[in-house]
Amino acid sequence: MSTPTDPWWKEAVFYQVYIRSFADSDGDGLGDLPGLTSRLPYLRDLGVDAVWITPFYPSPQHDAGYDVSDYVDVDPRFGSLADADTLLATAHDLGLKVVVDLVPNHTSSEHAWFQAALAAPPGSPERARYLFRTGKGRGGATPPNNWQSVFGGPAWTRLTDGEWYLHLFDTTQPDLDWRNPEVPAMFEDVLRFWLDRGVDGFRVDVAHGLFKVKTLRDQRDLDKPPPADEQRAKQQHEAAGSLVPQHLGDEPMWDQPEVHDVYRSWHRILAEYDGDRMGVAEAWTQTPESMARYVRPDELQQAFNFTWLQAPWSASAFAEVITSSLAAVAPVGAVPTWVLSNHDVIRHPTRYGGGQVGVARGRAATLAMLALPGSSYLYQGEELGLEEVDVPPEFRQDPAWFRTGKPGRDGCRVPLPWRGSRAPYGFGPAGTTPWLPQPDDWAPLTVAAQKKDPGSTLEFYRTALRARRRLVGLAEPVELVTDRVTVLEFRRGPLTVVCNCGPRPVRLPAGEVVVASGPLDDRGLLPPDTAVWLT
Ligand code: NOJ
Ligand code: MG
Repeated sequence: MSTPTDPWWKEAVFYQVYIRSFADSDGDGLGDLPGLTSRLPYLRDLGVDAVWITPFYPSPQHDAGYDVSDYVDVDPRFGSLADADTLLATAHDLGLKVVVDLVPNHTSSEHAWFQAALAAPPGSPERARYLFRTGKGRGGATPPNNWQSVFGGPAWTRLTDGEWYLHLFDTTQPDLDWRNPEVPAMFEDVLRFWLDRGVDGFRVDVAHGLFKVKTLRDQRDLDKPPPADEQRAKQQHEAAGSLVPQHLGDEPMWDQPEVHDVYRSWHRILAEYDGDRMGVAEAWTQTPESMARYVRPDELQQAFNFTWLQAPWSASAFAEVITSSLAAVAPVGAVPTWVLSNHDVIRHPTRYGGGQVGVARGRAATLAMLALPGSSYLYQGEELGLEEVDVPPEFRQDPAWFRTGKPGRDGCRVPLPWRGSRAPYGFGPAGTTPWLPQPDDWAPLTVAAQKKDPGSTLEFYRTALRARRRLVGLAEPVELVTDRVTVLEFRRGPLTVVCNCGPRPVRLPAGEVVVASGPLDDRGLLPPDTAVWLT
């Protein structure tokens, strides 16, 4: 139940702006801050409460800005600090909150600190801000441990002087040593810099990564059984009635207990400012319990809950996601969050089978999600029903593609279509070549085309978000109806939500349909791949 004194973020709908693909004001093919500012009225009319903007700081862009070379400035390709100020003021005038991305796990290799570390000798204070180590084996030619980069290949790169440095992502993203007091001190200044400029919060990148096991020991081979003491502990835990997941990996690089002191100190900084400033953790932890630790009352306000995004199109899977997500945050009193897509995963209509069916399912899942308590996070373009794009290999830019040869994440990052019948579809001025090519068949998906069509995905999102404002803020806890196998059904106060994940039309419970994710059957049945809200 939300009340007028609740913080703004409690039941807010956030819209993720992937800055380089949202709107390009100057025709260089990259979206930018002035482009976003000019489109803020679109977001207000869509009906979201807040925007989260992916990194726009100076960066060599080896990982689309998640490789920051200066945390307190704007990359000229995205604009200037003055543009950031204008953006904040315009958003606030429109009643929108603004959350910016913070990347504390690693810097760019072009950050002044890393450049100084490269110029300084082994053992120097400059190197001590990162994780430099000597290698193993003859001449130290083997990496210090067996960790792999998230983007594929070893997590270590060797310098010509023989030392190795750790990068859990690309070689151009060296990991910081958070045990060095200079590191937390620097980020406290960064937080204050942006808070002073008026941002309403931070999305914390790789929030579970900052601390690594002190010894930097090897990761255990996951195919081998865990050591005897760990097995014993697990058995005792299970005997005590705990629901320990069966396949916990050994993760000496993630989710170390020390990280929580950082979020406690950030909580205190956020609290020094008015306006309920907030932080949301991107923390890929292994259990609901470990995720909940990031949102204890004195830590961050929210953590992304990726369980729905990982679930298949299935009523029972969705019901399980809802139950376990609510149960995870309840003990710490935090609000749940929900998300179906972001810039790192395949767009959900494509995950749900693609084509018309995929888009219909995507809309249905969205409608179910928007009825749940807490915050929902939308990813730009989902309101247009965009699907994953098969970006031709010669255009791909994701470092994961270069390191693994797997397609990577470019397919969900293609610049948005705003209007017109061919590329750049109003993404930039006429003649702009977008940084990733847009498909030839996007004309019917532009914002302008969908605005004219009451049955479009865009109009569906606007209707659903309007209805959410009216109905959901005042609603009660979730009551799942558990006797239906292929149908997800739950009640929340005056609202009944039904989502048909099965192959056949189903009867609707009593009530008046207030929003539907797609056309209803003329016999009043709920067709497959469709959801409704009833009151
Ligand atoms: C998570 C971000 O969402 C992703 O895009 C990025 O590549 C990694 N963190 C590394 O910063
Ligand atoms: Mg531009």
